[in-house]
Amino acid sequence: MDRLQKQIGMTPLLKAEKLHKSFGGVRAVYDVSIEVREDSICALIGPNGAGKSTLLNLLSGVYQPDAGSLFFNRTNLIGLPAYQRARLGIARTFQKIRLFKQLTLLENVLAGFHIHQDVPLWKCFLPGGVGRFRDEAMDLLSFVGLGNRGKDRAGALSYGQQRMLEIARALATRAEALHARRACRRPQRPPRSSFFSRGCKTSTSEM
Ligand SMILES: Nc1ncnc2c1ncn2[C@@H]1O[C@H](COP(=O)(O)OP(=O)(O)OP(=O)(O)O)[C@@H](O)[C@H]1O
Ligand SMILES: [Mg+2]
Repeated sequence: MDRLQKQIGMTPLLKAEKLHKSFGGVRAVYDVSIEVREDSICALIGPNGAGKSTLLNLLSGVYQPDAGSLFFNRTNLIGLPAYQRARLGIARTFQKIRLFKQLTLLENVLAGFHIHQDVPLWKCFLPGGVGRFRDEAMDLLSFVGLGNRGKDRAGALSYGQQRMLEIARALATRAEALHARRACRRPQRPPRSSFFSRGCKTSTSEM
């Protein structure tokens, strides 16, 4: 069946079955199963407290599930920490924006290239580190509409622009799957299908 599914392009990129996560007596995620296929955009919709962020945290490795199975590209993700999942191609943005606010936009995006380089983060911004990815980083900034802001500090951006910068940094990890928090109520963002032209095989968005 697996081989047949692959032949007809039906194998999910991401597959979770019967995921559970509780915090004390709170069942944040209960018996959740999802499949996300390549070249697809999937939206997680639910009221406050429904468990959306917890589910994305389970997929990206911030939390480990109490029970259930989780596969990405047929790799078993259970037990893998977030940084190893990032190397497999799972990138995310955060509900509470997490940028290096004192660094420039360019430096923030360059930091995204770090995970595939065998250099410590502090060396990233030197010519021998990820500095050689400057052109690609500038290209990503243009992609999210911030091409002329490369030298500005990230902390100087508006909320919506910071969200776009997070997306550029996530794409710099060469992500195959991007889990993104909604940009803002009236987002200024590129067409989401463009993520796929960036090598991103799927995008999951928390609404
Ligand atoms: N680290 C935690 N410790 C304890 N309880 C938590 C923790 N994280 C989430 N919860 C609880 O789990 C439930 C689901 O929370 P979660 O943040 O996943 O919901 P959400 O759908 O993302 O909500 P929102 O739309 O407000 O962002 C809530 O009852 C929340 O209080
Ligand atoms: Mg949330």
